[in-house]
Amino acid sequence: MNIFRFKSISGTLVPAMIAAMTAMSQPAPLAAQKSATIKIYPERAKDTIPKEIYGHFAEHLGSCIYGGLWVGENSGIPNTQGYRTDVLNALKELEIPVLRWPGGCFADEYHWMDGIGPKDKRPKMVNNNWGGTVEDNSFGTHEFLNLCEMLGCEPYISGNVGSGTVEELAKWVEYMTSDGDSPMANLRRRNGRDKAWKVKYLGVGNESWGCGGDMRPEYYADLYRRYAVYCRNYDGNRLYKVASGASDYDYNWTEVLMKNIGRRMNGLSLHYYTVKGWSGSKGAATAFDKDDYYWTIGKCLEIEDVIRRHCEIMDRYDRNRQTGLLVDEWGTWWDEEPGTVRGHLYQQNSLRDAFVASLTLDVFHKYVPRVRMANIAQIVNVLQSMILTSDRGEMALTPTYHVFNMYKVHQDALCLPFTLICDEMDVRDNRTIPMLSATASRDKNGVIHLSLSNIDADNTQTVSVEIAGLKTPKITNGTILTSANLTDHNTFEKPRTVTPEHFTAASVSNGILQVKIPAKSIIMLELKAREINSMYRFDSMSLTGHRKTIIAYLFRIPK
Ligand code: AHR
Repeated sequence: MNIFRFKSISGTLVPAMIAAMTAMSQPAPLAAQKSATIKIYPERAKDTIPKEIYGHFAEHLGSCIYGGLWVGENSGIPNTQGYRTDVLNALKELEIPVLRWPGGCFADEYHWMDGIGPKDKRPKMVNNNWGGTVEDNSFGTHEFLNLCEMLGCEPYISGNVGSGTVEELAKWVEYMTSDGDSPMANLRRRNGRDKAWKVKYLGVGNESWGCGGDMRPEYYADLYRRYAVYCRNYDGNRLYKVASGASDYDYNWTEVLMKNIGRRMNGLSLHYYTVKGWSGSKGAATAFDKDDYYWTIGKCLEIEDVIRRHCEIMDRYDRNRQTGLLVDEWGTWWDEEPGTVRGHLYQQNSLRDAFVASLTLDVFHKYVPRVRMANIAQIVNVLQSMILTSDRGEMALTPTYHVFNMYKVHQDALCLPFTLICDEMDVRDNRTIPMLSATASRDKNGVIHLSLSNIDADNTQTVSVEIAGLKTPKITNGTILTSANLTDHNTFEKPRTVTPEHFTAASVSNGILQVKIPAKSIIMLELKAREINSMYRFDSMSLTGHRKTIIAYLFRIPK
């Protein structure tokens, strides 16, 4: 059972912040319980939201690559040099910054040389991790890197450490990035690509504690060091090497790697899934009740605690935050849809998934600059995907796609600190969740974007937003994503059940923005303002009467 709770202001916040927050929130009468207040402090902004937080992940798994992204030039499905044209166009719209490939677990059994050269000469392989499906290797290094060029995104190569060799990975790097008269560069040229690609991100193994080799962290750390030596920077290409990091609550893995690898890695990965557990049913993607929905929100938001604890460990070894934390797998994991191939992880995607996307992105924004990249799993037809396709040529954009499309304005924008006071609720498994989540950012043109997620399944919330120092903010655009039911989703027959619409229930009065955000909805507001004052002050007043939870975004994780 979920219990609404209204919590007093706790003493954990610095007095100035409490004073600032109280200034915008008068003691509320009972009728105002479904309200929240936000105060944004543009002048305190210092961190940019790295666009790479909006990264994606494409694994050889089910119909993510074959059938989803790639159908081959001879397919009856409209394609552009073998890539599905409808999927390609939909992905271009998202302004994807980085794409991780070829796995996942698949990466540690992938031998890249099988995926180059004439397609009819490429050997077949069995995808042992994912349903034993036979793949013909028609999608390989060239096909992936060319796709990244078409999408305008950085490639993130996940190297085989579990079943490969140092030589194999070293040669792959040479093949992709060397422009000299080197054996691998010449092989690439013979295969039709003259100029080297730029490849920045290199994952040295994936889940090396599990499907990537079942290693102990001490052993993996030594192995990483060995691999990293031979993965070289060729001809102006500079690799950003990512060590295979922990799964959610495995803090010891992070500790050992920070201690034994240290600055030899540029990034350390972290995987966190919103999942009920790894054995038994994970629950249906579209058949759930309100209790399940709130449980999902609680589990999703627990990523914040997990990130904070990994960050604390990293901070002890790396005070200047030179090593990035890359959440290179995240998202929901439900039961596979009935009637689909076991092991292909094909799941539907409802309004609930949209909330997992918006809330998780809001959390990531709070942990920049340590969190430098995130890659939702996965891009097409697998887990919490952006797009679902059929082999009959149909396509549906998921609610999660729409969140990424609405949120793309935050990419590379200045993250604006704020305080938020809202109701909270106790949910299953001893978790407490806020009823509202937000991100505020200012882009390079000075436009402010405010995204708000009303988690409350039943109640509209009136949100008062003050932007310190900003005079007469003007709402220049508004978008809302919601639907009649949390279980609503898009199908090939009804692809627009959950789709963004124009949002108008916001107004400005006396410099305060009032937003009426309907139950279970996610909105994005675009704001412009005449002037930013250089000074603003913190007012103070009595705390008596406040019965709300406070989420403070003013201060980042301590150094
Ligand atoms: O994304 C599906 C799988 O989840 C990946 O292959 C693996 O890395 C993780 O366990």
